[in-house]
Amino acid sequence: MHRILLTIAACFLILAATPALAAPPAPADMRLAPPPSMQATKAPVDFSHDRHGKAAIDCATCHHTWDGKGAIASCAAAGCHDQPGKKESTTFYAAFHAKDSTASCLGCHKDMVKQGRKAPVACKDCHAN
Ligand code: HEC
Ligand code: HEC
Ligand code: HEC
Repeated sequence: MHRILLTIAACFLILAATPALAAPPAPADMRLAPPPSMQATKAPVDFSHDRHGKAAIDCATCHHTWDGKGAIASCAAAGCHDQPGKKESTTFYAAFHAKDSTASCLGCHKDMVKQGRKAPVACKDCHAN
């Protein structure tokens, strides 16, 4: 009986560990800027995976098209958030500022602030100018 339980427990451990092993490592501190096809109008934005990991945010909350094992696409990948402008969800801007999505920087941060937690929401908190 014990053996069976241990085997079952071991299977669960392996299953639980597999996605983590398959996930590409999250890059250290990043500086985010528009893709070469777009002209930057604001200062680039610093982003830390570490700080967000400590806030216990799942990879797939932000990487919302990720299948949990393969490569992780950049936000501005073709067919994702690769359009100019601000309104449509396919714009580069929407990936980071859409207010109705917790996958966007600003959308999630606004929710956090509503819940009484601290996260930057002012332009200058993310863009130095
Ligand atoms: C929580 C962080 C955050 C806040 C707050 C924020 N942004 Fe952004 N913004 C980003 C990120 C990340 C990008 C993508 C990287 C880049 O382009 O610098 C971006 C990109 C942009 C872009 C497109 C790229 C460019 O340089 O033109 C514009 C325009 C922009 N932001 C304007 C604003 C304005 C205006 C505000 C305030 C209303 C604001 N942002 C608030 C994170 C933020
Ligand atoms: C709070 C949001 C957020 C979370 C949570 C998050 N990431 Fe990211 N990650 C980003 C952003 C933003 C980028 C930059 C994307 C870009 O360049 O377009 C990025 C980039 C990456 C890249 C590089 C992709 C490329 O463009 O080549 C990898 C790999 C990655 N993340 C892995 C992870 C893993 C693994 C986890 C979970 C442990 C994770 N991320 C959690 C926001 C997040
Ligand atoms: C799903 C929710 C969520 C998303 C999406 C998210 N954040 Fe955050 N962010 C948080 C939380 C929670 C904190 C507070 C973390 C802490 O306790 O320090 C935070 C803190 C920060 C801080 C202040 C701490 C630091 O690292 O200096 C910055 C800057 C920041 N986020 C930038 C970004 C940018 C840029 C993006 C988009 C590329 C982003 N965040 C997306 C939840 C989120």
